[in-house]
Amino acid sequence: MSVIAAPAVRLAGLRYRWPGAQADCLDIERLDIASGERVFLRGPSGSGKTTLLSLVGGVILPQAGSVEVSGQVLAALSSGARDRFRADHVGFVFQLFNLLPWLSALDNILLACRFSPQRRARVAAAGSTPAAEAARLAARLDLDPGLLARPAAQLSVGQQQRVAAARALIGRPGLVVADEPTSALDADRQQAFIALLLEECAAAGAALLFVSHDQRLAAHFDRVLELDHMNRASAACAAEGGA
Ligand SMILES: Nc1ncnc2c1ncn2[C@@H]1O[C@H](COP(=O)(O)OP(=O)(O)O)[C@@H](O)[C@H]1O
Ligand SMILES: [Mg+2]
Repeated sequence: MSVIAAPAVRLAGLRYRWPGAQADCLDIERLDIASGERVFLRGPSGSGKTTLLSLVGGVILPQAGSVEVSGQVLAALSSGARDRFRADHVGFVFQLFNLLPWLSALDNILLACRFSPQRRARVAAAGSTPAAEAARLAARLDLDPGLLARPAAQLSVGQQQRVAAARALIGRPGLVVADEPTSALDADRQQAFIALLLEECAAAGAALLFVSHDQRLAAHFDRVLELDHMNRASAACAAEGGA
């Protein structure tokens, strides 16, 4: 009997409205992202892409419907358990990277392990240590070893972005979500970064949900989703005013 992995993400009957808003921001009947699948989510500014990622990360909870990540219904967890689940199973790469500027690049990467017993356990099970794994990922992402000791604030935008990717990937979360992580880069560097991110997600067995409004990047992915096409609240969401 074969074991079928739970989807990395499953949304069903999802509705989300921001507090104080007059209309729903998201109304999505169904979305499955398979384990290991690489999905490009496209949509104009203000269409709800970042809101969707916050729901997938369990940072906010929907008013109706469910969000499952690797088979776990997020609303079934307490707020603290949801934070721990996110730390263990979801790697985030944000638009502005959200590195702690005073910490070294290495310590920024290690932070993901510090908050996650499961990431530490997965690193140990692979016969490595967090520091060695951080160095390996940094090398794979073309970050010079000499940069790892520097405060994140002293790195270029492209270097900070690769530190953020290493932080998301360390300890092999089942899902990596990236929110317009290439918007600050020129076209050549965007393509190179996406290639590296895809390679490392494949090596880690992680599904990737990559959000961008830039259609040119879509060719790298298994599937392209247009948020406006699957969001029955798209007109109302846009009318609330873009973010
Ligand atoms: N923290 C928030 N509080 C209230 N409304 C928000 C918040 N974040 C986003 N919104 C609203 O939700 C809609 C979608 O925003 P967002 O998800 O950031 O879009 P995108 O990432 O596609 O640009 C916008 O109308 C925006 O104003
Ligand atoms: Mg956004």
